Amino acid sequence: MAAGAFLNSGSGKDYPGNLTLFVFVTCVVAATGGLIFGYDIGISGGVTSMDSFLRKFFPEVYRKEHADTSTNEYCRFDSQLLQTFTSSLYLAALVASFFASLVTRAFGRKWSMLGGGVTFLFGAALNGAAQNVAMLIFGRILLGIGVGFANQSVPVYLSEMAPARLRGMLNIGFQLMITIGILAANLINYGTAKIKDGWGWRVSLALAAVPAAIITVGSIFLPDTPNSLLERGFPEEAQRMLRRIRGTDDVGAEYADLVAASEESKLVEHPWANIFQRKYRPQLTMALLIPFFQQLTGINVIMFYAPVLFRTLGFGRNGSLMSAVITGLVNVFATLVSVFTVDRLGRRKLFIEGGTQMIISQIVVGTLIAVKFGTSGEGNLSKGYAAVVVLFICIYVAGFAWSWGPLGWLVPSEIFPLEIRPAGQSINVSVNMLFTFAIAQAFLTMLCHMKFGLFYFFAGWVVIMTIFVYLFLPETKNVPIEEMVLVWRAHWFWGRFIEGAPTQNGGRLPKDPNSNVEMNPPAPRRQKQGSNFTLNLGISL
Ligand code: BGC
Repeated sequence: MAAGAFLNSGSGKDYPGNLTLFVFVTCVVAATGGLIFGYDIGISGGVTSMDSFLRKFFPEVYRKEHADTSTNEYCRFDSQLLQTFTSSLYLAALVASFFASLVTRAFGRKWSMLGGGVTFLFGAALNGAAQNVAMLIFGRILLGIGVGFANQSVPVYLSEMAPARLRGMLNIGFQLMITIGILAANLINYGTAKIKDGWGWRVSLALAAVPAAIITVGSIFLPDTPNSLLERGFPEEAQRMLRRIRGTDDVGAEYADLVAASEESKLVEHPWANIFQRKYRPQLTMALLIPFFQQLTGINVIMFYAPVLFRTLGFGRNGSLMSAVITGLVNVFATLVSVFTVDRLGRRKLFIEGGTQMIISQIVVGTLIAVKFGTSGEGNLSKGYAAVVVLFICIYVAGFAWSWGPLGWLVPSEIFPLEIRPAGQSINVSVNMLFTFAIAQAFLTMLCHMKFGLFYFFAGWVVIMTIFVYLFLPETKNVPIEEMVLVWRAHWFWGRFIEGAPTQNGGRLPKDPNSNVEMNPPAPRRQKQGSNFTLNLGISL
């Protein structure tokens, strides 16, 4: 077993309580924050492959695409301005997430979500009515601010509301909504591209108002998390909320831990300065590397530019949009796999399996393209050959959808102690957005220059990140969020950064005699109370 795999968290600490219907519903509502992000990701690729849109805003690209009958397929859509349309949103989200962290800490998670929804509504209106590139890009910036606020608050909200044993499943609701948003956008583009008079793109862009309205209205009714209520000085409300969300009065142990975490958090005046302290080095490293790696899987090449990529490969317009719908469907269904396995198999297994699958499929796709297009970019794909390319792209998307997709949001949201959680989550969101921006801005140019080698480039990164997870990412499944420090303290590498009274075995967890691997968190204050969670309505999960 890997050096990083030390904790059998299935036997970890747990608190009494059920998955109540109340928590389930609030988590579903909060997760709809993912819809706005997903809708954005999915909409731009389809819109930028519509002629009427290109003619109006990017006539140069349109001319190049049509008049340039010359040769190199790899460079057909290479345009900085076109890429700016896609990428401007992520730059805005990056900046917004820092402001969002202040709102999240001072006023609670729900106000961040509400702020995100409202700004997004304005962005959608401006985009749908756009008359020139400036309106278009300004609208994208407003959408980006909305995404920055939502992505900052929703994953943390979900992880704080969920009982530890089901945190993975509930948190992945966010990713599931992202994928549903992408698929909805793909389907809408497929329909609106058929509108004869060429205003289909307006419908595509304006319909972003629908997911925005859902999260805006939804967040008004959401309660705040007990963690946040305590942090903001409302202990009674926090305790009441904890009883309500766990469906039991027996919340003393969990509440005591929340209070302890909150007391510690209050000692920290400057979470931004604090996060750079040595003892937070493992969390800081993960907050930087996990989102960086998530984007370096190359997923957004497919998500943003699938229709453009498929057209580059010689698919017709319809075929391109249809293929984007197919990858969108695979994305949604494969995410469901992680929903149901993440709290049983754990995070590490999904990361490693998904990573391996992505490496293999990227190498195959790169090679298939190399064989047909070589370095000159001249060539044609037969129908059968194109179908095989799409198949391997789907295998790749599935690998991402049950590993780096959901876990790229889940793991960072569950590893920070309360005192640095909003700051840590901001770093996570902004690094994610920075590299989403970089890929959106650079992909078409990279494709033009690196050609099929681009797929090998991303495969190389997935090799690196898979090895990183194997060595350095501890298993976090089922560990209560305010107890996560035990996981780091017990890790073969990160343990040296964490202060605190050494436990038995010199600060390490006891080793499993069979595997010689460290096993249990030290001295749980309360043992697990039963392994089945039931909905209050009696539904067993
Ligand atoms: C990533 C996005 C990506 C999406 C695809 C998310 O987790 O952050 O960049 O487009 O997954 O489903």
